[in-house]
Amino acid sequence: MIVAPKIRGFICTTAHPMGCAANVMEQIEYVKKQPHVSGPKKVLIIGASTGYGLASRITATFGSGADTIGVSFEKPADEKRTASAGWYNTAAFESVAHAHSYYAKSINGDAFSDLIKEQTIDLIKKDWQGKVDLVIYSLASPRRIHPRTGQVFNSTLKPIGDTYINKTVDVMNGIVHEVSIPPASTEDIEQTIQVMGGEDLQYWVDALLNEGLLANGAKVIAYSYIGPEITYPVYRAGTIGAAKEDLEKVTRDLNTRLQKIQGNAYISVNKALVTQASSAIPVVPLYISLLYKIMKREGNHEGCIEQMYRLFHDRLYSPSLSLDNEHRIRLDDWELSEKIQQEIKTTWMTITTENLAIETDIAGYREEFQRLFGFGLSGVDYSADVNVAVPIPSIDNV
Ligand code: NAI
Repeated sequence: MIVAPKIRGFICTTAHPMGCAANVMEQIEYVKKQPHVSGPKKVLIIGASTGYGLASRITATFGSGADTIGVSFEKPADEKRTASAGWYNTAAFESVAHAHSYYAKSINGDAFSDLIKEQTIDLIKKDWQGKVDLVIYSLASPRRIHPRTGQVFNSTLKPIGDTYINKTVDVMNGIVHEVSIPPASTEDIEQTIQVMGGEDLQYWVDALLNEGLLANGAKVIAYSYIGPEITYPVYRAGTIGAAKEDLEKVTRDLNTRLQKIQGNAYISVNKALVTQASSAIPVVPLYISLLYKIMKREGNHEGCIEQMYRLFHDRLYSPSLSLDNEHRIRLDDWELSEKIQQEIKTTWMTITTENLAIETDIAGYREEFQRLFGFGLSGVDYSADVNVAVPIPSIDNV
């Protein structure tokens, strides 16, 4: 099959196997060039196939030499369709990890379900003599089927209280226009908390603790976002922010519970980056385009892999881990610096369709969005016929 990008709104319905592999390879090469991190040895990553979870898995393996089990929810290829990008990323990651003699196995299915938790626990018991010393929770999902009640919850991206009006951009055609998002209902807020809040993380940690699978001193980390004032109504003060606050509270409670094994649970507040999850949020892609422009010029722009390496090297496994007053690691420190945010505020007012390409890094945004699906990587021949039925070595359902 000759694979070209098919972009519909904020998703691309195709993915390129060689391009995704090249993308994974670039991240591995980045980590291999950095100093070794005396970090974890057995790592479970929930949400391991794309974005921050994939970068965390790559850092754990190639930065610390860790064995990893990655859980994600991706689609294999069929006669008509390519696999999803996360499928190809996982296949490529495992192949390279195995070639370097690292243990890496993956579980594909709904992480919210009891079944996938049981499968993961069985695999840990069967394959790992040692216990898990780091659990990374990096799920981003629009939906959750509750494992105990079967109820289906859908998350929304809405403000709470008032209608939110701001400018946004249609990334592919570059049209800047106003968006008006009506406030969430109480039901919307509750449903979003059910999907993206902390209950599922708690279920994971409960299951691991009950089976005695967390090592003494184990760490649990989940990812959150705060962001600038511009996006506050739709992000931090909106439905997704309510879910993140719930996740943060659950994590603080877990931190207390983990004391009995000398363990810790942390939140890392990460930088806004182009991922499949963030491209679905109104206003955020325009903010990210402007942020990239400024941070690239300032020389402190980071992608997922740079952020995750900094998390391991400078924070989680550094003797001088500093937390904010809500027990959070702040990797959004450079994004939220006074200088960068001041410039964003001033420029934001002036952005129009006409000056978008000059005032923001919309070109960089588009490029990175396509790269998420394996398009636009150097060294990949996009005119060549490729086999899209790529197996993930540890999974045989291709
Ligand atoms: P992503 O969309 O790139 O990755 C989501 C991962 O979750 C994928 O591995 C996917 O397979 C997995 N997943 C989704 N539903 C699943 C299910 N039911 N069962 C198993 N796996 C499932 O997302 P991204 O952006 O890397 O987000 C990860 C975390 O980082 C989220 O908590 C997000 O809020 C947070 N974050 C993201 C930021 C951004 O700008 N992208 C900024 C700060 C935090």
